[in-house]
Amino acid sequence: MYFYNSLLLISNILTLTVHTQSQDSNGIGISACGFFGARAQICGLSDVPITSIPADCLSILIDEVSVDLRYHVSIPCACNPNNRPLVNLDKILKMKGTKRVFICYGHANIEEWSAMLACESCNGGTNSLDEMKGLKAFFNEHPGIDGLILTGLEYDEDSFEFPGYSENLKTYLEVMKKSFPDLIVGLDLSGRFLIDQFTNPKIPWLDITVIDSVTDFYVVSVVFLNDCTSKDFRNGIAPMTASYTNYTLDKLKDVLKQASIPKEKIHFKFKLNPLCNPNDSYMFCDLTMEKICLQPQETSSWCVDTLSSFNEKGNYANKYGAGFIGSSLDFNDPDNCCNCEKPFIGFNAILDGFNGVTTKPCGSFNRN
Ligand SMILES: *[C@@H]1O[C@H](CO)[C@@H](O)[C@H](O)[C@H]1NC(C)=O
Ligand SMILES: *[C@@H]1O[C@H](CO)[C@@H](O)[C@H](O)[C@H]1NC(C)=O
Repeated sequence: MYFYNSLLLISNILTLTVHTQSQDSNGIGISACGFFGARAQICGLSDVPITSIPADCLSILIDEVSVDLRYHVSIPCACNPNNRPLVNLDKILKMKGTKRVFICYGHANIEEWSAMLACESCNGGTNSLDEMKGLKAFFNEHPGIDGLILTGLEYDEDSFEFPGYSENLKTYLEVMKKSFPDLIVGLDLSGRFLIDQFTNPKIPWLDITVIDSVTDFYVVSVVFLNDCTSKDFRNGIAPMTASYTNYTLDKLKDVLKQASIPKEKIHFKFKLNPLCNPNDSYMFCDLTMEKICLQPQETSSWCVDTLSSFNEKGNYANKYGAGFIGSSLDFNDPDNCCNCEKPFIGFNAILDGFNGVTTKPCGSFNRN
């Protein structure tokens, strides 16, 4: 009897642990969302209050913005012509409730990273320690940031090999973890880069196995997997399989395995909203999900997922990763102009797919 009871207790504890882990996978949660936060101020569209972010969005990524630094931290905002400081970061931090807040953070490009990291593993992380002082000042100014997603780590067209990249980045991450023990740290990687790097590597890049022990999770972004250049991409720029592009989700899953990026730490970042041909003069403020429903004629050439391809992406994230991030939530029909079961149609349809549910058709979202 006692034996049976303690078994029961142990199994309850185990269930609880497993449940907590899946709710809280790697700190960012199975379903997270990118949030621009200035839709009304910058685009003149309806306001999306922080309180209307769905409960299922467990973490908020400050979207479309990255923090740059040269031993002091500043916040440039590409979308803000007046170069005002990041309008809503503090508001989001104040109102986040139980959600976690992550910001993108990093040196502008791999050249700056490699200059900074050059010899961190041989000098005890001197530059990293300096950088952490700048970061600490930033955290003090903006209390409540739970984690960082490091950006700019990929090679570009004319990069030279950075020998010792993995070891030096590892030292940097160790210094960061030691300086901020509660900080959750992920790396931002693009699916397009990974496919290029692992199908046709010109020069060696990061060895994930070296840095994995000091990395909490990986964001694998397919937000820019392809451009919206033709009818081929009408149903989204991140196709599962395709004859017209090598940048597919099917290819990506093989590449992630090749790169030794652990499935349990992969969070796919999906585009929720439409994209237009790069030759068209629409700005990002124009490219909203509600426009697809309200102006179907004008938007007929735009690239956007269907309910079933959103469902499929959720299913993919569950199968080949630990979760997903939808980007950008606030342009994803917050007022439910599309007459769907819920607002935020793309986010909810990916979540449905993740949970093995087929989303019910919407009144005005009829792209097939
Ligand atoms: C953009 O316009 C140029 C010039 O008209 C054309 O050559 C190119 O193919 C267009 N690009 C796309 C993606 O449609
Ligand atoms: C895909 O990659 C192969 C091999 O590198 C190449 O021959 C082919 O042209 C590519 N296809 C497309 C659509 O880019």
